Amino acid sequence: MLYFAERYYCFTIPPSTMARLSVNINKIALIRNSRKGNLPDLLQAALDCEAFGAQGITVHPRPDERHVRYSDIPLLKKAVTTEFNIEGNPVEQFMELVLQYAPTQCTLVPDAPGVLTSDQGWDTLKHRTFLTDVVARLHEKDIRVSVFVDAEERHVEGAKAVGADRIEFYTGNYAALFPDNPAQAVEPHARCARLANNIGVGINAGHDLNLDNLRFYKEQVEGLLEVSIGHALISDALYFGLQNTIQMYLRLLR
Ligand code: PXP
Repeated sequence: MLYFAERYYCFTIPPSTMARLSVNINKIALIRNSRKGNLPDLLQAALDCEAFGAQGITVHPRPDERHVRYSDIPLLKKAVTTEFNIEGNPVEQFMELVLQYAPTQCTLVPDAPGVLTSDQGWDTLKHRTFLTDVVARLHEKDIRVSVFVDAEERHVEGAKAVGADRIEFYTGNYAALFPDNPAQAVEPHARCARLANNIGVGINAGHDLNLDNLRFYKEQVEGLLEVSIGHALISDALYFGLQNTIQMYLRLLR
């Protein structure tokens, strides 16, 4: 009976209801780059994140290489055994890198070269021709493509039109409004998620997600497949340690 009950439990909570956690290791690279040498060891950190339960590793190589460097990518590609996600603006140098090292997923982000951090999604209508071409080139190498968008219906539909497999919702605005009005903060994301689910586009999310706002987001955004989290998670790890911190985030995603 107990056995039956356990099995029944397994079937009622399929793994698909759990969003995957991809740890963005850019902040670890930033600390390394502040000195000569290799401390902390980025590759080891990626492997440790995986060993501690992360289901993916995200990197965002920027043209100035202040975070992850282009030269980190081949080593990470060899070592990472979970989902490897490379995100960035698909300028030609970035495209060559991604096509050469074929990660599981490439997330297209429209960030300007000197920007502090990504702060908005694509205008998928204005850049339709460019994005269609980029997506097709990545698909030729069997790379899943996610397009970073604000939670606006027209950009979700635009992402579908350019052939994206997934969207990644920019959650910076959600995180900013969450402390004052969580329901209002999440409403556009929940609405656009329903649209994405209806038209067959997978849903990722990222930016400023943290231990306070993550569970509510996961509960409200139907079909959330993956979150990529860097800044808050690495900051929390200073207090709780990397292993505990990853477990804390994973718990919020169940
Ligand atoms: N998603 C994208 C597209 C990003 O550019 C970033 C930041 O590099 C993140 C997610 C992660 O954001 P955060 O570091 O605030 O968790």
